[in-house]
Amino acid sequence: MAQNLLASLSDSQLDLLHRLADESAALGFPIYIVGGFVRDLVLGRPSLDFDLVLEGDAISLGRSLVSKFGGKLTVHTKFKTAKWFPGLSAFRPSNLPTFIDLISARSETYKHPAALPTVKLGTVADDIRRRDFTLNALAICLDGEYFGELRDELGGLDDLQNGLVRVLHPRSFVDDPTRLFRAARYEKRYDFKIEPQTLALIPEARPLIAKLSAQRIRHELDLILGEPNALSILARLGDLDLLKPIHPSLTWDVTTWARFQHKVNSANERWLLWLMSLTETEIASLNQRLKFTASLLKSLYASSKIFAALSAFEDLKPSQCVERLNGFPLNAVSAAALIAQGKSRQNLEKYLSEWRHIKPKTTGDDLKNLGIAPGPKYQEILSRLRNAWLDGEVDSENEEKRLIENFLKETG
Ligand code: CTP
Repeated sequence: MAQNLLASLSDSQLDLLHRLADESAALGFPIYIVGGFVRDLVLGRPSLDFDLVLEGDAISLGRSLVSKFGGKLTVHTKFKTAKWFPGLSAFRPSNLPTFIDLISARSETYKHPAALPTVKLGTVADDIRRRDFTLNALAICLDGEYFGELRDELGGLDDLQNGLVRVLHPRSFVDDPTRLFRAARYEKRYDFKIEPQTLALIPEARPLIAKLSAQRIRHELDLILGEPNALSILARLGDLDLLKPIHPSLTWDVTTWARFQHKVNSANERWLLWLMSLTETEIASLNQRLKFTASLLKSLYASSKIFAALSAFEDLKPSQCVERLNGFPLNAVSAAALIAQGKSRQNLEKYLSEWRHIKPKTTGDDLKNLGIAPGPKYQEILSRLRNAWLDGEVDSENEEKRLIENFLKETG
């Protein structure tokens, strides 16, 4: 079975794995490819997520790979892990990962629920047992004559074949409540089912979500929002009552569902579609919990403002639309345009495609040449001219000049 699994890799991928294994063998470290790579290989969805676990020091292996094949290495001394970026040096980059994770096999214990784990070096078997679900607990040996042999001590292959997400032990969610979110993500990504005993462990762990740091929980939500079927994952989290424990404003209902029908390209755009119906106060409170990045927070506030006033955009003149939207991040306007209807939608789309680019022909230098003393008046005149273009009151440079003359007469 496993021989067949690796047989589906390209020659260049196999060559890379052999070279890694040879270097590891030279250092005397047994080496395995593990986790998501093996899972996706079994599922017939080959990935470039090369996670290698070795019984030995991953940083030493990384250094010897760099000295033999070149490329770059980043290291994490505390956890004895390294990331090798092979570069173009020794391998042609066809179907090859841009980096390879090298992990020193370790065991993990948790001092208290939801804490970060305490790590100790161990064997590959330990490293497999510290993981979240059986579907991630498969390893393929890369050593010499064992190259390609599958290690499946925890029933991962059966669960993958039967479409089940199953924890490795009953304390798994308590140790690490982020796994609650991972379970729903895998379930919906692969169209699997969370296995009944695993499902039954959720209530005990649910209150521990409150103990997770902002960064860890936001990371999980970012991963979910980056999945093609984010919609069904969030719906599942809603059903399992795993959203409200993060924050009471984080809900999932038919209106959010409808907003998620729109196609977007990034996790951030999904955040906007999800949360645009919240008030600014709710966003501020949610930000206390999730600590959004500054740019996402700015977009969230902007999309909430636009959403709250969406119907008003129907009757606004182009210049008024521009005045309202100027300075708002474009992704916030695009998100609102997706869900707006009728004239509001047309106005938001026009703003994005045309209106925001419109500028008068007259410049500050021209105003100076007309003998107008520099000052706040410049901005006033230029805005007035831009608005006139936007609202179709002028359509030539001469008309602009007339407007300036009128303006000067009016204001003295
Ligand atoms: N892992 C875990 N508990 C977590 C996060 C990760 O046990 N809270 C383990 C999983 O077994 C996983 C491995 O660490 O296989 C690597 O994690 P990650 O890179 O997040 O997962 P992938 O297997 O790469 O899966 P995905 O395709 O979702 O990124």
